Amino acid sequence: MMIISGEHSEKLGKKVSELSGIEFVKRTLSRFPDDELYLCLEADVEEEEVLIIENSYPDTGIVNCLLLKNALIENGAAAVSFVVPYMGYARQDRRFKKGEAVSIKAVLEALANGVKCFTTIDLHKKESLNLLPPSVKRTDLTAVGTLAEYLKKKDVDIIVGPDRGSKERAKMAAKLVGCESDYLEKKRLSGTEVQISPKHLSVKGKSVGIIDDMISTGGTILKASENLFSLGAEKVYACCTHGLFLNNIFNRLRKVCDEVVCTDTLPEREKIGVKVLSVAPLIAEWIEENLV
Ligand code: R5P
Repeated sequence: MMIISGEHSEKLGKKVSELSGIEFVKRTLSRFPDDELYLCLEADVEEEEVLIIENSYPDTGIVNCLLLKNALIENGAAAVSFVVPYMGYARQDRRFKKGEAVSIKAVLEALANGVKCFTTIDLHKKESLNLLPPSVKRTDLTAVGTLAEYLKKKDVDIIVGPDRGSKERAKMAAKLVGCESDYLEKKRLSGTEVQISPKHLSVKGKSVGIIDDMISTGGTILKASENLFSLGAEKVYACCTHGLFLNNIFNRLRKVCDEVVCTDTLPEREKIGVKVLSVAPLIAEWIEENLV
């Protein structure tokens, strides 16, 4: 068994390799003068089962995934599997209007063809994995346990989902923390703007954890936090699995929330001051149960 990563999940891939004691495949990744990606495996993968840990985000992540998969198969790997920590294109998961591409379908079809297992973490909608060919073993892992463990140490009194879609996630985290859960009502007005309807939640004087799958533009978590403070919350911890933090939103969030927490599915978020929890143990456990 071997592990390999591309440009976007290298640190996480090496962490998983260290934790699980599985060799990390040496490879050369560089760029041609026109910026196209070059990959060369520097280890013998013949007859080896190899796990690729690489994001399909940003777009170059998809090219990393494709080159890694083809190089492994063409150099004789016995089986190739994917863990895609942050699955890009997951939110365009249906045709909202005639003529649109179902992006997640296009990406999954390209990546998963010929692989043994395809695993994601807190995929926007885990039902999207039903688009995979029947032969591919699919799993959507969740980092809710990782986030809940942290919130337990912070003694939160309640976990809140920022919208109806995150209700179950909040419930699951609350069960692990041993506290209550609730959710807010959200209406998306545009790609960057959301409206959180006032809803009575008993958060007065309480320490609240918000859990979402991702913070992208931050509109959702910002509005949710403001809403909770207006209802009298004493502390708000804004947590997500995937911290995209577009348009410098972290700086605004930091002023509103007591702490902003994400995982390392996307690299180097600690550099902007976010509290980062690692999903490496979660992936290592999945490997142990499914591949080794
Ligand atoms: C929505 O369904 C998701 O769970 C997130 O709440 C959403 O994608 C976050 O996006 P943003 O940070 O742009 O509000």
